Amino acid sequence: MVEERVVSGMRPTGALHLGHYHGAIKNWVRLQSEYPCLYFVADWHALTTHYDEPEVIERHVWDMVIDWLAAGIDPSQAVLFIQSRIPEHAELHTLLSMITPLGWLERVPTYKDQQEKLADRDLATYGFLGYPLLQSADVLIYRAKYVPVGEDQVPHIEFMREIARRFNHVYGREPGFEEKAKAAAKKLGSRKAKLYSELRTRFQEQGDSAAVESARALLEEQQNLSVADRERLFGYLEGGGRMILVEPEVMLTESSKLPGLDGQKMSKSYDNAIALREDPETVRKKLRTMPTDPARIRRSDPGDPAKCPVWQLHLVYSDDKTRAWADKGCRSAGIGCLECKEPVIASVLAELAPMRERAQKYLDDPTLVRNIVADGCEKARRLAQETMREVREAMGLNYA
Ligand code: TRP
Ligand code: SF4
Repeated sequence: MVEERVVSGMRPTGALHLGHYHGAIKNWVRLQSEYPCLYFVADWHALTTHYDEPEVIERHVWDMVIDWLAAGIDPSQAVLFIQSRIPEHAELHTLLSMITPLGWLERVPTYKDQQEKLADRDLATYGFLGYPLLQSADVLIYRAKYVPVGEDQVPHIEFMREIARRFNHVYGREPGFEEKAKAAAKKLGSRKAKLYSELRTRFQEQGDSAAVESARALLEEQQNLSVADRERLFGYLEGGGRMILVEPEVMLTESSKLPGLDGQKMSKSYDNAIALREDPETVRKKLRTMPTDPARIRRSDPGDPAKCPVWQLHLVYSDDKTRAWADKGCRSAGIGCLECKEPVIASVLAELAPMRERAQKYLDDPTLVRNIVADGCEKARRLAQETMREVREAMGLNYA
């Protein structure tokens, strides 16, 4: 239960572009070999804002999953699944809603921001207000330790930490908690029980954080403890009740430095994106016609890389030597813009080529993708059910 699990989700926006890759997926790919990772399609979250467009969900979901796989998410390492296929997320959302103060939701900054940004939609809905709570259920149900997200999602992670804390506070204080925790400690065996108790005292009396770390590690190693006893020992260690839900931490993904073709943020809606599965000819053409420093009207006019979106691409794709060459050539009008773009074009194409190849396999045989997701859903569901058993019991719902 306490392995350092990573959970993250993405709304199904359809085929992904290089902005998604550099802003999130590349990081997911790196994490999959370092932690047990669960990545899912947040299709219910798509409905919180686009409830009137149900017809696009299916296509967007599969396009996105294919792109995850194309970009290097490896289903033998990470668990891939779809939110709506794990109804336990909805159950946890409902149960958490019982203890969620309305004010907490209303104060989440994205609530008002998004309502203003998406002013053409009526977002005065219950589902939209509950967006961060549904997201909390997504993460808390897997007792994740880390949530890799961008800056914009930080308030949502803060929110879910508070929800977890509140839940443990309200429901972790079962009758006879202390006696049960002590009984659980005995089950560690006398040597480890003694160590646990010493570490706990050192933490509680002297705030020794190394002691609490060691005690946690000790508990994590125990194979034969029941989930309930483990939660008791974790909670007792820090002086609270049972730690039924784990407070997750943000794992901040550096925001993508990759601009769109016009220098603004890359986004499908700005029509300035390069899709991961775009064919090489189109990629080449898009980059060749990409605007540069407007001061370079003629080939002989010197330019300033700081005023050119292509330079931003050099910062992402080129090594120091190539950058120095471009910078000097630009300022001295020693090179033309097309020449300057060549190394960038080559790097983008080299990055995309293996993705297109991998995607083709899944496009040729869609059952491969369905099977990967079915398998992921099954694994996710087992974990979710384990947590829900604890949650239901804590909330008095496991009666006969
Ligand atoms: N809200 C996230 C976004 O817009 C998507 C998301 C839904 C998510 N559930 C999640 C991200 C759980 C991380 C963890 O990007
Ligand atoms: Fe941009 Fe390169 Fe042209 Fe300079 S030479 S304006 S950096 S494309």
